[in-house]
Amino acid sequence: MTPRKIIIDTDPGQDDAVAILLALASPEEIEVLGITAVAGNVPLALTERNARIVCELAGRRDVKVFAGCDRPLARPLVTAEHVHGKTGLDGPPMAEPTMPLQAQHGVDFIIETLRREAPGTVTLCPLGPLTNVATAFERAPDVIGRVAQIVLMGGAYFEVGNITPAAEFNIFVDPEAAKIVFGAGVPLTVMPLDVTHKALTTRERIDAFRAMGSTVGDHVAAWTDFFERFDMEKYGSEGAPLHDPCVIAFLIRPELFTGRLINVEIETASELTLGMTVADWWGITNRPRNAKFMGEIAAEGFYALLAERLARL
Ligand code: RIB
Ligand code: CA
Repeated sequence: MTPRKIIIDTDPGQDDAVAILLALASPEEIEVLGITAVAGNVPLALTERNARIVCELAGRRDVKVFAGCDRPLARPLVTAEHVHGKTGLDGPPMAEPTMPLQAQHGVDFIIETLRREAPGTVTLCPLGPLTNVATAFERAPDVIGRVAQIVLMGGAYFEVGNITPAAEFNIFVDPEAAKIVFGAGVPLTVMPLDVTHKALTTRERIDAFRAMGSTVGDHVAAWTDFFERFDMEKYGSEGAPLHDPCVIAFLIRPELFTGRLINVEIETASELTLGMTVADWWGITNRPRNAKFMGEIAAEGFYALLAERLARL
């Protein structure tokens, strides 16, 4: 099977880090053309640093990491240190990366790659706010039709919001960017909180990472130990949702997920519901069905895949 070519657009964040590791551990299915960092969980200077740290942890100093946009299209940046810690990768001690950051801007890399690669062969995998992708589409509309598919983590419907009562963080940070991406007409698969909140860490699942006896396994266990405290306090849940790895797991084993092709619109006007993904799950409107919105995940299979692949690193 020819591996799928992807660009990971990300704001590491512990869960982004696990997603990047899963992608790099799956060369049969995935070829990572590059990683573009965006401001989100923490400021850009940290998200690009963290992306390089994760690539080095995976033994992949060859991966090209780019810095993208340092703020949303039209609003001040909102970050999430309360969830991810001051560095964005709090949990285990992390050395500063030594691999280089690419000089090219992340948005220019996305545009250049889409123009170079054959049409319909590159999948975009946004794991944070959609600023970089939206900026690429606005700056170079010719590349929109060349994107094979977008598989992103963001939004919520039945699960409602995690940063406001109405909105999920990635969409809330840059709702104008999300409106552009959801309206671009690119085949879109969405991993909302409705799915990721069904993929919770548990002691047993985290112990499986620690039992690997590897630096990667120890880091993933330490990250999830740190990351889960927020959700456990807020939701009273047993563990934390590993949001972003759901995007990569979908590329490897799509059968782990089920959802519906529905209309999803983004609220950009109301301060009360800003960033809400208004998902027409019941088909009430005649609005175009622009997104495959996932609703269910086979959590045991998801964690089995994670354990199997991360053990390779
Ligand atoms: O709401 C969860 C999303 O926000 C995840 O991508 C997490 O990394 C943060 O970016
Ligand atoms: Ca993220």
